[in-house]
Amino acid sequence: MDIAARHEFRVLASAHPKLPVLLTAGRLARRLRKVPRIGWVTSDPLTARRILNDPEHFTLLGEGGVGHLWAQVLGDWVYEIFDGPGHHQLRSRTRDLFTDENARHLTDRVIGPRLERAGAELRAGATVDVADLARVLVGRIVADLLQIPIGVDDDEPYREIFATGEELASLALGTTASTHLQPETVARAKVIVARLTANIAGTWRTARPETVLGRCRELGLEQRQAEGLATLLMVAGTETAASAMARTVALLHDTGTQHRLFREPDLLPDAVREGLRVTTPAPLIGRAVAADVTVDGRLLRAGERVLMLTWTANNAAGGFDLDRGYLPDQRQLWFGAGRHLCLGAPVARAEISGLLRMLLDSGRPWRITDRRYRRNVLIPSYASLPVSIAA
Ligand code: HEM
Repeated sequence: MDIAARHEFRVLASAHPKLPVLLTAGRLARRLRKVPRIGWVTSDPLTARRILNDPEHFTLLGEGGVGHLWAQVLGDWVYEIFDGPGHHQLRSRTRDLFTDENARHLTDRVIGPRLERAGAELRAGATVDVADLARVLVGRIVADLLQIPIGVDDDEPYREIFATGEELASLALGTTASTHLQPETVARAKVIVARLTANIAGTWRTARPETVLGRCRELGLEQRQAEGLATLLMVAGTETAASAMARTVALLHDTGTQHRLFREPDLLPDAVREGLRVTTPAPLIGRAVAADVTVDGRLLRAGERVLMLTWTANNAAGGFDLDRGYLPDQRQLWFGAGRHLCLGAPVARAEISGLLRMLLDSGRPWRITDRRYRRNVLIPSYASLPVSIAA
């Protein structure tokens, strides 16, 4: 195993000691295999996409799906917007919510100044903890999304927002075996959601059109739909994005490919795509079987569960490589596929690009001076990744 793969392995193992075992042994499942206590498992990109594109037979609302999980916390209306006609209507209305262009505007406006400050610190010889910076940047996006007023230009409130989002997501920890939550977990989660969304009702009518809430209003969403969507955006887009940002910085360093990127900055989109592929921050996707169906010659029965090991499927192609290009089998499986394909994909790409551009603009290759991995988290990630630019 090379250095980059070794660090990635540790990132996964620290999140959950069994995760690397599941993801590497998952290769054996290839197309579809039934595993005791987990259900059906696949690590084949085509089989995973076939399942994700078949809403008639697979749902995320049943036991084993993320919709089932969030409905217990957010209320039954989640069933309406997570799947079926309500979901279709919401997705059609929000099709233009995040184009590449307005995701770039969003990140330039909300995190651009903080990135500039980090670049100046690096150039002045300071060490910048990229993992912490990523959490602060994502916290800033969430504050903007949920219209949480922050009076001071200080990182601490944004770290707290990130931690709150993370706490909410962590309630889903341990749901690989079951998505039924304990009543006290549901109660805790409801308190967090109420706290995070407290300002939306007050700002809904006045939010400026360039904010996500303002855009939602202009796209014709109702306030309750926007509140639900904002919560989902936060839960789905907090740890995932911060994880990809720091891990991509580490991969470019550990593989030595940052030097090529300095020489050929036009490869930035390739670095972002490869970072997303190799890290696959949401390493597995679950679905419940809604109706009996045969996939790859195996009969899957209603009520059973399927776990798609997307990390395994994406990494089967090999390690981080700026020359890898677009992979037609994997496509962008790190963002899922089908009707639930990540709504925030352009935002995630803009966030990672923004961070990498800041590092490239600082003019000299970065060194990682130390690193720590986060323990017992849902989304594998670095706890700290201090970098400085070599003299
Ligand atoms: C690197 C960062 C990210 C990764 C790897 C990622 C990955 C994913 C994946 C795999 C899904 C599909 C889940 C499923 O089918 O069960 C998804 C859905 C979703 N993501 Fe992301 N995501 C990222 C960032 C974001 C960001 C920044 C946002 C919001 C600004 C976001 C918002 C959403 C939403 C709302 C959904 C649900 C879409 C639906 O059900 O129609 N994600 N994401």
